[in-house]
Amino acid sequence: MTSTPDYAEKIPNNVDLAGDRRLQRALESWQPNFLSWWESMGPTLPTRDVYLRTAVNVGREGWAHFGHVAMRDYRWGIFLAERDPDRRIGFGEHKGEPPWQKVPGEYRSDLRRLIVIQGDTEPASVEQQRNLGATAPSLYDLRNLFQVNVEEGRHLWAMVYLLHAYFGREGREEAEELLHRNSGSQDAPRILGAFNEETPDWLSFFMFTYFTDRDGKYQLGTLKESAFDPLSRTCEFMLKEEAHHMMVGTTGVDRVVERTAQLMVEHDSDEVAARGGIPLDVIQKYLNFHYSVSLDLFGGETSTNVANYYTAGLKGRWLEGRRRDDHKLTGKSILVDTVDEDGQIGQAEVAALVGLNTDLRREYIADCEGGVKRWNRILEGAGLGARLKLPHAAFNRKVGAFAGIEATPDGERLSADEWNGRRGEWLPTEVDKTHVRSLMQPVHERGKIAAWIAPPRNGINGKPFDYQYVHLA
Ligand SMILES: [Fe+2]
Ligand SMILES: [Fe+2]
Repeated sequence: MTSTPDYAEKIPNNVDLAGDRRLQRALESWQPNFLSWWESMGPTLPTRDVYLRTAVNVGREGWAHFGHVAMRDYRWGIFLAERDPDRRIGFGEHKGEPPWQKVPGEYRSDLRRLIVIQGDTEPASVEQQRNLGATAPSLYDLRNLFQVNVEEGRHLWAMVYLLHAYFGREGREEAEELLHRNSGSQDAPRILGAFNEETPDWLSFFMFTYFTDRDGKYQLGTLKESAFDPLSRTCEFMLKEEAHHMMVGTTGVDRVVERTAQLMVEHDSDEVAARGGIPLDVIQKYLNFHYSVSLDLFGGETSTNVANYYTAGLKGRWLEGRRRDDHKLTGKSILVDTVDEDGQIGQAEVAALVGLNTDLRREYIADCEGGVKRWNRILEGAGLGARLKLPHAAFNRKVGAFAGIEATPDGERLSADEWNGRRGEWLPTEVDKTHVRSLMQPVHERGKIAAWIAPPRNGINGKPFDYQYVHLA
């Protein structure tokens, strides 16, 4: 049963922490480590308080509360979506059986691994974004950055809860490691490549929240299907918060494109840099970078591990319930990308089970197309002929079939020399990055906005754009 969150407790939760003293003590001893991680690796801009959303419940009557809070006092809590007593496992060899409330011994290490990999990305993004506050284009954007940061912190809590509650001593050790690894660290980097890249400017931040956070959404979508019920319910609740992160990315890029389009029309020229804007080809290069490193997060085209996870019921497909097949996939096939010995790009038919990474990556790509369409509508609406596009899946890849070759954004093969000579046409160069960074002058004044970005159409929670979203220290 879900209990009502008790805010008198140290750790707000709906998992009846008070009823499990041992678990409560374990989490209470992890909490100061989390706070010292937040202090040393979290946002660097000093603030008095921020207008933040806090998860307080999971019910239909509203799950969040908005108000100004000091970030250090944010109530990072543990919330699982309500338990559905009628739920049945939706796929794999246990399809139709009741979901697991405990971890079956045979799946213990695989489930722990899946939770650790997801958990590792949450604090990583906070680390990547820690210095962005100093260059925020408005208080509205500053607030959104901090909202994403505190919620990624809460997602870390969500994963640490599972590790502490269900995985014994090994789980507690993994929870410590999640604070010990750091984004970009030489000795102890984060597990996945994209989470060790820098997020040095706000164009990168919006591209990150659009493309890389969206990978997170898809991973959570597959874990939400898990036969391990606490993991499923945790991810279901995280996805609610994730929707806001997607909105920050989508509308952030909207607003950059909108401002660039305005300047292009006003001056009848692509040369908007001299007018304080970000040129469209630089936006395209940032898009190319963030999209290609995010594609890598889905792993190789084929994976027997992932096939086994599926058959065992640990990790399903995106929107598993809406797929019209037997949800076991035995005897089914899928076409996956390949590169042959001559380096030619092609496709091969493989068992659907081993091709599940490809299935998920395709769902993700189709979703990413949606963003590009809306950004192109902005360009079209401004009367401009230029368009943005997603690069070919072979472009700038470090993982999977395309890792061994180089290709243009149109999917034309290149030799290593050609690639090295031309990559600056497609990926941000030092000159591009330096220019973008030079635009990142903070606008921390209420109701004001930087010149390289258009203001948002709506504020947060019905508040106007010129609301005092943040009080700086
Ligand atoms: Fe997250
Ligand atoms: Fe997120």
